[in-house]
Amino acid sequence: MASSAPIGVFDSGVGGLTVAREIMRQIPNETIVYFGDTARVPYGSKSKKTIINYSRQIVRFLQSNDVKAIVIACNTASAFALETIITEVSIPVIGVVKPGAKVAAETTKNGNIGIIGTEGTINSGIYNTYLSKTKPNVRVYGKACPLFVPLVEEGWLDDPITVEVAKRYISELMTYDIDTLVLGCTHYPLIRHTIGSIVGEKVTLVNPAFETARSLREVLIHNGLESVTAAGEHKFYVSDGAEKFKKFAKTILPIEVIEPKDINIESFADTLFN
Ligand code: DGL
Repeated sequence: MASSAPIGVFDSGVGGLTVAREIMRQIPNETIVYFGDTARVPYGSKSKKTIINYSRQIVRFLQSNDVKAIVIACNTASAFALETIITEVSIPVIGVVKPGAKVAAETTKNGNIGIIGTEGTINSGIYNTYLSKTKPNVRVYGKACPLFVPLVEEGWLDDPITVEVAKRYISELMTYDIDTLVLGCTHYPLIRHTIGSIVGEKVTLVNPAFETARSLREVLIHNGLESVTAAGEHKFYVSDGAEKFKKFAKTILPIEVIEPKDINIESFADTLFN
């Protein structure tokens, strides 16, 4: 595989752009092929079987673009499908949960960590699993926040309704004296200010995107895949609503999104290249 080949990045929608942005900042020579599954968002309320099926289709699509590595820029898909996908493809694949758990373990001082994410991520207990391996003495408190994803996809980032919803979700976590709160869904960094204003300065917000981009860089170096030439044109694909996605992406990314394309992701049958 050529080191100038692109990196495949995917999410259920716009959330993974927070990871793509971090990759562009930290490893600017890399070219990204992004897929947002906007027709089938949200992932957070769907079963493991469905998310594995969706992820397989997307991985096949990304591999048809000759990607050299894949970042599952979605906590739900990382929780449900990462292990399966890793065993099915021969290129490096990383998720966002392990990097997020690592930073949370390094950040907490009093050992009380809150995790907010989709129902799928929270119910999977994946953060607890990683955290108990990294730092066995911590106490982990999870809270599913299913209304956040539609609010973010709607673009209601600084809206009084989003503030009200966030208060309802987060007030319970605050009773556990948390000093660290993991934004365990890649959509949530987009409402970071709202969440930060509710938890206050004593609670450190952890955005797994930063550590994910760092891990990706390490994986690329380790596999001799780091690009040594300038990035080519980043490409964006969605399963629906390319125009809406384009407007949103422009507000998040440090580049002009050229033309996101609508594709029929279901035409990528669920067998994988190797
Ligand atoms: N942004 C994704 C995550 O990190 C998925 C959210 C959703 O589609 O429910 O979990």
